[in-house]
Amino acid sequence: MGNNGYLVKLALKNRTVYDDLIKVIRAIGDFEIIASGDNRVPDLLIYELGKDTEKDIAMIQSIIEENVVGEVFLTCEISDPRILMKAIRLGVKEFFPQPIETEEFKQALKRFKKRRNETIPSVARQNGHVIMTFGSKGGVGTTTVAVNLAVALVQKDKSQSVALVDMNTLFGEIPLFLEVSPKFHWGEITKHIDRLDNTFLTNVLTKHHTGLHILPSPAYLNGHIRPTPDTISQLLNVMKGMFDYVIIDGGQSTDDTALRIVELSDTLLLITILSLPCLANSNKLISSFVELGYRHKDQIKIVVNRYMKKSEISLNDAKIGIGEDLFWIIPNDYQTTMSAINQGKPLSKIAPKTQINKSFEGLAEAFSYPYTNEKQKKKLRILKGFRSKS
Ligand SMILES: Nc1ncnc2c1ncn2[C@@H]1O[C@H](COP(=O)(O)OP(=O)(O)OP(=O)(O)O)[C@@H](O)[C@H]1O
Ligand SMILES: [Mg+2]
Repeated sequence: MGNNGYLVKLALKNRTVYDDLIKVIRAIGDFEIIASGDNRVPDLLIYELGKDTEKDIAMIQSIIEENVVGEVFLTCEISDPRILMKAIRLGVKEFFPQPIETEEFKQALKRFKKRRNETIPSVARQNGHVIMTFGSKGGVGTTTVAVNLAVALVQKDKSQSVALVDMNTLFGEIPLFLEVSPKFHWGEITKHIDRLDNTFLTNVLTKHHTGLHILPSPAYLNGHIRPTPDTISQLLNVMKGMFDYVIIDGGQSTDDTALRIVELSDTLLLITILSLPCLANSNKLISSFVELGYRHKDQIKIVVNRYMKKSEISLNDAKIGIGEDLFWIIPNDYQTTMSAINQGKPLSKIAPKTQINKSFEGLAEAFSYPYTNEKQKKKLRILKGFRSKS
């Protein structure tokens, strides 16, 4: 979106059609027409098919597949139902036979605006809270925490916008955890980094029915351009302006890109379980992040996952071993987590009343009041009962 509204590019051959459309666009407001030579990504392309419709349709198909515009409207001098069918299959949103019915075009623009308002969070936020989950070892529940915290945040308050980003370089599992079939992954961002803005990102993100916006990682090793520290900085910059919360499943990677996320996130949730190797790793990770200057100690929060009361290592042992307070304790519930993963549903959907789901609701609550005073924090602890008392 430009400063003056939605960016529209007109690619029209017929002068009368051009004049008719311009009149309606100007009358309706909220649109900025992109002049030729302006390389900004249009929110809307209005294209007139020429005599070689096959060629034009192929070109439109590649524009849609490459995700280089927001939406496409078509118009054509010849009214051929076969062309119309093809266009619809491609994902063209509106088709106008000629001569243009201006009232129809006006309604189409209104529908366009409504769709965009629904997909782009309306209030520009500059300060979205970025939360990264980081595993002290593989398999400790880093993805489970990222996914269920994100869902708990979006379900707690529908007016809050939440994005979930998978930074596991390959075979990220978020689409499986939430049973979505994303059209795009972050390879799309790295490929078109020069075009990255709110509109582009909105088109790339996959919307889950809870309202969560998802950016998955590529499912195959297909030579995708890997994210660099710079692309991550740009991505987070845009995302912080669009979302109240950005949750990043960071897996266990400590490459330069991951370290940039460690540096840029507001909170790093270090996920551990009560096992010696994990506690030792947590200790080493915190020291490294702090010594290398990526974080202050108090920006790292320890989350103990899979907690069992009968554990050989107590919460107090863990606190001493890591040398830090424990922030949150998530109970062990293998059956519920496994069945959530296998069904591709969040815990809140399959087992809303379980302790483990309540723990995630409490964790989301803790992030809703990041600046509460000590008295309120104490109240929260008592209310939720899962926060560590160590
Ligand atoms: N609180 C929990 N109680 C019991 N089992 C859990 C809990 N959290 C996660 N699990 C189980 O641990 C397994 C690994 O979970 P998950 O995939 O979230 O871990 P991960 O750290 O992201 O793994 P990876 O290193 O493969 O990315 C899953 O089978 C899940 O069911
Ligand atoms: Mg994982």
